[in-house]
Amino acid sequence: MEYRKFNKYDKPVSLFGIGCMRLPTIQTDSGSVVDEEKSIEMIRYGIDHGVNYIDTAYPYHNGESELIVGKALKDGYRDRTYLATKSPVWNVKKYEDMERYLNEQLKKLQTVCIDFYLLHALNKSRWDSLTKLNVLDFMEKAKASGKIKYICFSFHDDYNAFKEIIDAYDWDMCQIQMNIMDRDEQATVEGLKYAGEKNIPVVIMEPLKGGKLANNIPDEVKRIYGLAKTKRTPVEWAFRWLYNFPQVAVILSGVSSMEQLKDNLRIFENAKANCMDEEELALVEKVRQAYLKEVKIPCTGCEYCLPCPQGVSIPRIFDHVNSAFMYSSEKDSQNHYRQFLINNGTDASKCVECGQCESACPQNIPIIQKLKESHIFLTGQGDFPDD
Ligand SMILES: NC(=O)c1ccc[n+]([C@@H]2O[C@H](COP(=O)([O-])OP(=O)(O)OC[C@H]3O[C@@H](n4cnc5c(N)ncnc54)[C@H](OP(=O)(O)O)[C@@H]3O)[C@@H](O)[C@H]2O)c1
Repeated sequence: MEYRKFNKYDKPVSLFGIGCMRLPTIQTDSGSVVDEEKSIEMIRYGIDHGVNYIDTAYPYHNGESELIVGKALKDGYRDRTYLATKSPVWNVKKYEDMERYLNEQLKKLQTVCIDFYLLHALNKSRWDSLTKLNVLDFMEKAKASGKIKYICFSFHDDYNAFKEIIDAYDWDMCQIQMNIMDRDEQATVEGLKYAGEKNIPVVIMEPLKGGKLANNIPDEVKRIYGLAKTKRTPVEWAFRWLYNFPQVAVILSGVSSMEQLKDNLRIFENAKANCMDEEELALVEKVRQAYLKEVKIPCTGCEYCLPCPQGVSIPRIFDHVNSAFMYSSEKDSQNHYRQFLINNGTDASKCVECGQCESACPQNIPIIQKLKESHIFLTGQGDFPDD
């Protein structure tokens, strides 16, 4: 395991961090719930094998994630780990709310201090509202009181917003979405390098685009990866492209099985910055172009748009559209749409255009319009339009 050193921190951080947004789940009569035993086993296995960074957040798994992380870090594991969680800033209406959430999170996590406390999913408008509420004063007081150690933010917006926020304070870390596909989107590679120039360590989220770069690999992508001198899996290539950047402090992976965790621990065994030569970088760029040819809706499945008041399964609907094009599986997508969405009343026709989802979407997708187009396509009534 590679550990990267940053002056701001008391000990080096493991390059591989466990993200607790996609913990293993089990189906019960009342729906899907987190498999607590398996999740705790996995988090502890990761720590026992060198991971020292665990990331969670207030809303993950409907609040269950923080509780499970709290349990996993008992029995001495907390002392061996950097713990990161995030303030649900979209719920903050007044200064006191920030204190209330922090106290609740400390309790759920069964700790007296959170190492990395992030303002969750900042964008331009959230940042503007929070500065009016004196958010940095709150964060500094929380740090002075010993309830948090490092003042940080996670980010979903564009480069200009990123630059405005990162220039506003001497942050201890920022967390951005980046992967071989999201290179020019969100904070962008330029933003990553800018943070590096300011000596602000960067934590990466969604390195496999929520799993899309690991599953159902198109033949053309396999063919391109097959041209490499050294053979690697698509997951290895995706991580390699990220750890190649020395500005990256931690790459979070939302492992949902022990098998994936072990695979990623193996991949990170020999991870090094500046390990890719021009030929390898060109190969990944070819893969990127192959994917870009097929994607119709840039949804990452983060589920920030949920719950929809009408119960519309927004990410699943978009996933069916994208899958149809990326994996040449139109009939499969249409069958699944009918069987699991129309039959359950969670299809796109239930949308009443309230727009709640659009204001929550980190990718700024025009969800209402895309739902209409998706419904026509997935019910076989017409083609999906090109933008
Ligand atoms: N602050 C924010 O706004 C924010 C937003 C998003 C995420 N995050 C954090 O960042 C973390 C990482 O993001 P992410 O969960 O989207 O990570 P990710 O690595 O892009 O996606 C995780 C998914 O990739 C697949 N996967 C992982 N390792 C694999 C392997 N070795 N082989 C095959 N498939 C593999 C699994 O999908 P399947 O199980 O479907 O196969 C897994 O659920 C989250 O867990 C969360 O802690 C933060």
